[in-house]
Amino acid sequence: MKILVIGSGGREHAIVSSVAKSKRVSEIYAAPGNAGIAELAQCVDISVMDFDKLVAFAKEKEIDLTIVGPDDPLVAGCVDAFEAAGLRVFGPRKNAAIIEGSKAFSKDLMKKYGIPTAAYENFDNADDALAYLEKADFPIVLKADGLALGKGVLICKDLEEAKAGVKEIMLDKHFGDAGNKMVIEEFMTGREVSVLAFCDGTTIKTMTSAQDHKRAKDGDQGLNTGGMGTFSPSPFYTEEIDAFCQEEIYKKTMAAMKAEGRDFVGVLFTGLMITEKGTKVLEFNARFGDPEAQVVLPRMKNDIIDVMEACIDGKLDTIDLQFEDNAAVCVVLASDGYPVSYEKGFPIKGLDTFKDKEDYYVFHAGTKLKEGEVVTNGGRVLGVTAKGKDLVTARANAYEATKWIDFDNKYMRNDIGKAIDEQ
Ligand code: AMP
Ligand code: GLY
Repeated sequence: MKILVIGSGGREHAIVSSVAKSKRVSEIYAAPGNAGIAELAQCVDISVMDFDKLVAFAKEKEIDLTIVGPDDPLVAGCVDAFEAAGLRVFGPRKNAAIIEGSKAFSKDLMKKYGIPTAAYENFDNADDALAYLEKADFPIVLKADGLALGKGVLICKDLEEAKAGVKEIMLDKHFGDAGNKMVIEEFMTGREVSVLAFCDGTTIKTMTSAQDHKRAKDGDQGLNTGGMGTFSPSPFYTEEIDAFCQEEIYKKTMAAMKAEGRDFVGVLFTGLMITEKGTKVLEFNARFGDPEAQVVLPRMKNDIIDVMEACIDGKLDTIDLQFEDNAAVCVVLASDGYPVSYEKGFPIKGLDTFKDKEDYYVFHAGTKLKEGEVVTNGGRVLGVTAKGKDLVTARANAYEATKWIDFDNKYMRNDIGKAIDEQ
């Protein structure tokens, strides 16, 4: 089979690595890809949002299956464009990707179908939001409705901060049109867990759990980022919690989307908060998480193409989804200064060390080839993943492997997965 993967981050490198393991695959293409993906796939310089060119490319190369990685093209209807051209494609259609594309939509869906989530109100103008805040409890959470590169969530400790937040989102439009509407929701405390699941519109099968570390600095200090590292599985996501979530969250969400005429086919990412009052949904995403994919996919035993085809064909119930009985930790190597400002273009040394090592992976997120050399080209540069028999071992292995890589400006957190030591 010929496969096209759309995207250029660590998530897409992890997807391409899994695709490359499939015996059914003969050629892999990536649009636009990155320097790491280029070792496994032929990269073609087409933007993830240029659907006409992507479709034309898939037709020209007679691609058998296209996999859409990032949220932006999914929410904008990339899958619909491929289907309209008669092409096979993995991911939710626009009318289902809205579960990520509009937080107001997903909150209303959860309310309507009794799926546990934080109490909330939706607003489409700043005056009403400000009036609501006058009577609210603090801290409180403000969320821009639309896609905002994972940055549209503000946790406000008092009324003054919340008022400034409404101005930022709805009046100053810091997140552009994503702030035309806003959700104000109850602040929850607890353990966060990410659970990714394959979906065929009717059946939902969860992958092994993971946890992301979103803040830039050790001890969960600093600004929110796209994710500074992950570990899998999460020891906090117990069998009991999983049993609850299967019935009360995942199956209900699948059924809710179907009842709304928005069958969800693809990967549903549920961000959970395990609180003292039970487990609740923080958010839904319509795709693999990044860097969650970098610890979940290396542990998956199935052929990823078999699973994705079963989703498209509505036959996911025939798949026995299996994960290795081990653990993985991913430490993101970033450019110092991320997520605010940073320099790029520094040569990266040590990538070859990973080549002959089983259970160690270096996924490229922000890299490019410059005169035959791999250089830094983003805030998050690489995801260094290692497996181990348990989380403590995987963590030690991952941090050892971070030493193999060197570039000017290299920055990482030193406490990815540290909470697991407390177990
Ligand atoms: P989201 O994009 O909705 O996942 O929000 C980004 C991050 O903000 C989450 O991973 C949480 O750490 C935090 N967050 C979002 N909603 C809440 C909430 N209701 N209570 C506490 N923290 C939250
Ligand atoms: N790591 C969080 C996300 O992919 O949205």
